[in-house]
This record gives sequence, C-alpha cells and structure tokens, in this order.
Amino acid sequence: MSDNIQLELKNVTTIYGKNKMLHDISVQIPTGQCACLLGSNGSGKSTLIKAILGLTTIVEGKIFFEGRDITGQKTYKAVREGISIVPEGKRIFRKMNVLENLRMGAYTEEDKDEIELRYEKVFKQFPLLKERLKQIAGTLSGGEQSMLAIGRGLMCAPKLMIFDEPSLGLAPVLVQRTFEIIKEINESGVTVFLVEQNAHMSLSISDLGYFLQKGQIIASGTTAELQDSDVIRNAYFG
Ligand SMILES: Nc1ncnc2c1ncn2[C@@H]1O[C@H](COP(=O)(O)OP(=O)(O)OP(=O)(O)O)[C@@H](O)[C@H]1O
Ligand SMILES: [Mg+2]
Repeated sequence: MSDNIQLELKNVTTIYGKNKMLHDISVQIPTGQCACLLGSNGSGKSTLIKAILGLTTIVEGKIFFEGRDITGQKTYKAVREGISIVPEGKRIFRKMNVLENLRMGAYTEEDKDEIELRYEKVFKQFPLLKERLKQIAGTLSGGEQSMLAIGRGLMCAPKLMIFDEPSLGLAPVLVQRTFEIIKEINESGVTVFLVEQNAHMSLSISDLGYFLQKGQIIASGTTAELQDSDVIRNAYFG
C-alpha cells in the first residue's frame, strides 16, 4: 500500500442477514484529498460508511486507516483515531441545545482547553452557531441544522471526514454553500470522503471518485476521468 493512502477498503464484502450487500469493494483515499462516492438510492453508499465504522458485518476483505487494520473496529475507536461522520439526514440531537450537540462531537476528548480550541474553530467557520448556543437544535431551520451537523463533525478534530449525502433536502443555494464549506474543510487539511447522489456538484470539488451500483464499484478514477466516463454520463447526464 502506498504511504499516502489514508483510508483503504480492500476487497470488502458485507452482508445483511444472508444477503450480500457490498461486493468486493476496493477504495483508496489519499491523505488530504477529496474523494466522492456516487450512487443512486439503495446502491449501498451508507452501508459502505457503516462498514468503515464497524456497524455492519464484513464477511470478506479488510479496511485500513493510515495503514492500521480497522476492520470491524468499534465506532468510538474509529472516532478516536480521527474519523468523523456527518450522518445522513442531519441527525443532530434534536432535544439538546446547540452547545450540547457540539460537545457530543468531542465525546472522546477530555482535555477542556483542547475542547475550547475546537469550539473556537467551529465558531469561526459557523458564526451563526455561536449566536444560538442555547437554542434547542430541533428548532433550528433545516440549513442551520445541517451546519450544526457539520460543526459537530468537526468537534472531534478529524483527519478524515465522511459526509453522507450532505446536500439532501437542502434548497439549491444551501447546497452550493454546503459544498463550498466541504471544500474549505478539505483545504484546511482534512481528508474528505463525500458520499452523494449529486454527481455534478460532487465531482466539481473532488480529486477522485467512485461510482457504486447495486453494491459494486462500476467506475472509478480522477474526477476528469469520471466526468468523461460513459457509465457516469449514462447514469446521470444521459
Ligand atoms: N439493516 C439492514 N438490514 C437489511 N437490509 C438493509 C439494512 N440496511 C440497509 N439495507 C438495504 O441495503 C441496501 C443499501 O442500503 P444503503 O442505505 O446502503 O443505500 P444508500 O446507497 O445509502 O441509499 P440512499 O441514497 O437511499 O441513502 C438497501 O436495499 C437497503 O434496504
Ligand atoms: Mg444512504
């Protein structure tokens, strides 16, 4: 394995019950880059994320983070190693306030000074959250909840940040803003794994991509290669 590969899935197959879901998946994400995983509803995108976080049964293959085998490892350990997830459907803690939600993002950290530093970073990126610390998260607007979900994801000071369909359910102007924020996070040095159905926007901010269909990777390459590929064109632009 090349030294600069941060996350690697090597021939991973997963099951739900007796049924295979992901088939022989191989993915390599270089440190500091933005990689996207494209695929339609039910293609297995969230399952692939669950595999990385030790939340689904892997029957074949291995997953490595910075060269260490993390196959089947518990989620909190993955978080402690620097993997952060911004889940599908902006799953914030709706009954907690903004500050409590952010604090949850740093649950593996106990050093108070370190946590303060992380808050400051998040508030710099999302000044609005600082003004709403005591607001109950469930009463935030959809766009604000989405910012909170990303802010919470940043609170674990990730090396790798995984986004599960961040553009889902957002108005076009917020979709645009969300992709800009993801790009900014990537440019600040965090590796990004962007899981999306919005191929056009995702490819525009990514360095490389994978295309998932019915649990299999059917195309992969640099974004330029993918933009030219018939598979993607037929699936999305055809
Ligand atoms: N716990 C489970 N048990 C059985 N089948 C499951 C389970 N979770 C997901 N599946 C099935 O696995 C398939 C892939 O689901 P997955 O959530 O990975 O798709 P997805 O690509 O993330 O789709 P979407 O874009 O709609 O979020 C679906 O057919 C789904 O019904
Ligand atoms: Mg999904």
